[in-house]
Amino acid sequence: MASAVPNLPSSMFSLMHHHRLLLLLSLLLIAASVGSVHGLEEKIVTLHQLQWGDKSSSRISSPQRSRKEKGAIVLEIRHHSHYSGPIKNYNDYLKKLLVSDEARVSSLQSQISNAVPSNVYKDSLQAQIPLTSGAKLQTLNYIVTIGLGSKNMTVIVDTGSDLTWVQCKPCFDCYNQEDPLFDPSTSSSYQAIPCKSTTCDSLRAATGSTGVCGSNRSGCNYALSYGDGSYTRGVLSRERIDLGGTTMDSFIFGCGQSNRGLFGGTSGLMGLGRTQLSLISQTHDQFGGIFSYCLPTRLYNSSGSLVLGGDPSVYRNSTPISYTRMILDPQQAPFYFLNLTGVQVGGVALQASGFSNGKILIDSGTVITRLVPSVYNALKSEFVRQFSGYPSAPGFSILDTCFNLSSYEEVRVPTLRLEFEGGVELNVDVSGIFYFVKKDASQVCLAIASLTYEDQVGIIGNYQQKNHRVVYDTVGSELGFGEEICSYS
Ligand SMILES: *[C@@H]1O[C@H](CO)[C@@H](O)[C@H](O)[C@H]1NC(C)=O
Ligand SMILES: *[C@@H]1O[C@H](CO)[C@@H](O)[C@H](O)[C@H]1NC(C)=O
Ligand SMILES: *[C@@H]1O[C@H](CO)[C@@H](O)[C@H](O)[C@H]1NC(C)=O
Ligand SMILES: *[C@@H]1O[C@H](CO)[C@@H](O)[C@H](O)[C@H]1NC(C)=O
Ligand SMILES: *[C@@H]1O[C@H](CO)[C@@H](O)[C@H](O)[C@H]1NC(C)=O
Repeated sequence: MASAVPNLPSSMFSLMHHHRLLLLLSLLLIAASVGSVHGLEEKIVTLHQLQWGDKSSSRISSPQRSRKEKGAIVLEIRHHSHYSGPIKNYNDYLKKLLVSDEARVSSLQSQISNAVPSNVYKDSLQAQIPLTSGAKLQTLNYIVTIGLGSKNMTVIVDTGSDLTWVQCKPCFDCYNQEDPLFDPSTSSSYQAIPCKSTTCDSLRAATGSTGVCGSNRSGCNYALSYGDGSYTRGVLSRERIDLGGTTMDSFIFGCGQSNRGLFGGTSGLMGLGRTQLSLISQTHDQFGGIFSYCLPTRLYNSSGSLVLGGDPSVYRNSTPISYTRMILDPQQAPFYFLNLTGVQVGGVALQASGFSNGKILIDSGTVITRLVPSVYNALKSEFVRQFSGYPSAPGFSILDTCFNLSSYEEVRVPTLRLEFEGGVELNVDVSGIFYFVKKDASQVCLAIASLTYEDQVGIIGNYQQKNHRVVYDTVGSELGFGEEICSYS
């Protein structure tokens, strides 16, 4: 940039009083200070960094295996890694993954729009939440290992549902899982919740559900069906749970005897939603209703962490956490909503009518962020304008903005920043901007998609949350973001 001014023809300096030149010079100076000739914020990154994350951009945290912090426990969080061998048909696999993600999104949308008054809503056991997204498709779902009775179980982390469940013996219809099936008959700390019990009555009342009692009227049965035809059915039960060394007796979970769906090789699911059945509510006395995670980038051999409890020392590898208000909607109790007030691409603030009601869901189980059409279209056109000069490539599934970067070693990527009420920012990690459809980078797509209608609710997916400490404070009703690299270890 220092050379830009001397290169101006000397005759032009006689025009220094001219407004346009002064404007030009000041623009050049501004541009120099942000490191870009356009005055736009961008990062020059290798294709490897683009795909796997920007190693240099933030602090690096070591893997945090299960261990106890003061006032908090830390569980290692990993990508779903059931199929650890090479992926035979990468393209089909990615397509399926996005189709599953789309099924989850439609189901979330229908739950949100069909919200009913809270006393009726609490039919949480019948909630329609598809859990297909990436579960079997190992890369983009996140798992943790918990102890149940004396066994370890690997479960999917889901902030969009409440009931924690695992597949159980006797199993009438179970998918294949990696861990041995949970066998209640071998555990002395296991108790089925009887149908005729105050607990079952209160659950029945809370869920507004009929038919909680099984036909033989001995167990408090549950049935959770998910939007895409996946389901789990079984007996509500209590068991000792071990979360990274902290145990809790009588944790209520679903002992699933009939389970179908794309849960991969996991044993089940950990529900971190907002209602009374969720793990967060049930462990409130221990962890105070606060949890956080850092989602890693890499497919294999990387681990982030799920932290239950809010001891500040667990945020030491992160930049300071900034908190934004959660929008509370009792009618949509399982979900965590934020207020998206703006989006910046390369430092340019987008103008879009969709920011007028910025209610947006943050979800660990949706992969690709969805924005309402007005916001998405503004983002897309500004991104394309700034990312010009790179050859385009055909769209892929829900992703319509794609490029062929196969002949580049480095690219200049505009920064992407989501802004929330209170001036809180989420600076999307460089690995969260593009989705590599082709490994050779000949089809690399902007990893954000449009919703169909302006009145749908946007979703911040896990792909754009990577390498951040995301803190859910369900008591203070705040959600915090700090940058933390948890993808390298
Ligand atoms: C469960 O996992 C913990 C932590 O990794 C380990 O110490 C323990 O031995 C495991 N227990 C069983 C029964 O495999
Ligand atoms: C009754 O239901 C419970 C829970 O589903 C089951 O464990 C038990 O075997 C059933 N008993 C009979 C007689 O079917
Ligand atoms: C992952 O780690 C295992 C054991 O540490 C190693 O054998 C394997 O090559 C690693 N895989 C990748 C993709 O780095
Ligand atoms: C989001 O924040 C803006 C600015 O503070 C405010 O005007 C708007 O009402 C908020 N939206 C919601 C849904 O709370
Ligand atoms: C991508 O670009 C490379 C280099 O310019 C070219 O050889 C290749 O055919 C392109 N691939 C596709 C799928 O367009």
